[in-house]
Amino acid sequence: MSVMPTANGSHAGENGASAGDRSSLPALTTSGLMKSFGGVIAVNAIDFRAEPGQIHGLLGENGAGKSTFIKLLAGVLRADAGEIHLGDEALGYGAGRARSRQVAAVFQELSLVPDFTVAENIWIGQEPLNRIGGVSTRRLRRKTRDLFAELEIEGINPDREVRLLSVAERHLVETAKALAGSPQVLSWMRQRRRLGRARQSG
Ligand SMILES: Nc1ncnc2c1ncn2[C@@H]1O[C@H](COP(=O)(O)OP(=O)(O)OP(=O)(O)O)[C@@H](O)[C@H]1O
Ligand SMILES: [Mg+2]
Repeated sequence: MSVMPTANGSHAGENGASAGDRSSLPALTTSGLMKSFGGVIAVNAIDFRAEPGQIHGLLGENGAGKSTFIKLLAGVLRADAGEIHLGDEALGYGAGRARSRQVAAVFQELSLVPDFTVAENIWIGQEPLNRIGGVSTRRLRRKTRDLFAELEIEGINPDREVRLLSVAERHLVETAKALAGSPQVLSWMRQRRRLGRARQSG
């Protein structure tokens, strides 16, 4: 498995809305990160560093340990050894809301509830309430519209049930959900099935 920086956000300057915030974001580092399943070592002593604003690509053949590495970063899996830091803060195991504000992950197996609307899915567990303590559908819709405007996501109705969306639209909603928590680090996992087939046939 190899990690390559594919872009660097240092060009953001004063123009980007979050450029000011970004300069104060902490770096994400891992040291000696290790995870095995039974006798299989999935992630072997990874030392990695991502500076604020950087975009890294994680490349490797099937079973190389990419998903395991991301799950360790997101707190979905517990490392056997090694450490993950966001700035000075050591990140432990656990993938709740608080943790997803630090490292959020968009998994290729989507986590959306098909029978919930787009807005309900994005704000699940942090729904805005109305005066009598029920979920405020109006504020839910507005928060979703505001988020979509900020992320430049167009053409997805916040009130539509997720099961009616295309796969591409679901990925956008999943990404919006991850970004709704204003995470300091976001990771995506995308499968290149072709590579797998090529490897199997070759
Ligand atoms: N929950 C698990 N239980 C047992 N073995 C696992 C588990 N998760 C991953 N593994 C094993 O760990 C290794 C790394 O798997 P991982 O899913 O991280 O690879 P990957 O790089 O994401 O592969 P792919 O490109 O197929 O998504 C593989 O040998 C896999 O079989
Ligand atoms: Mg994977």
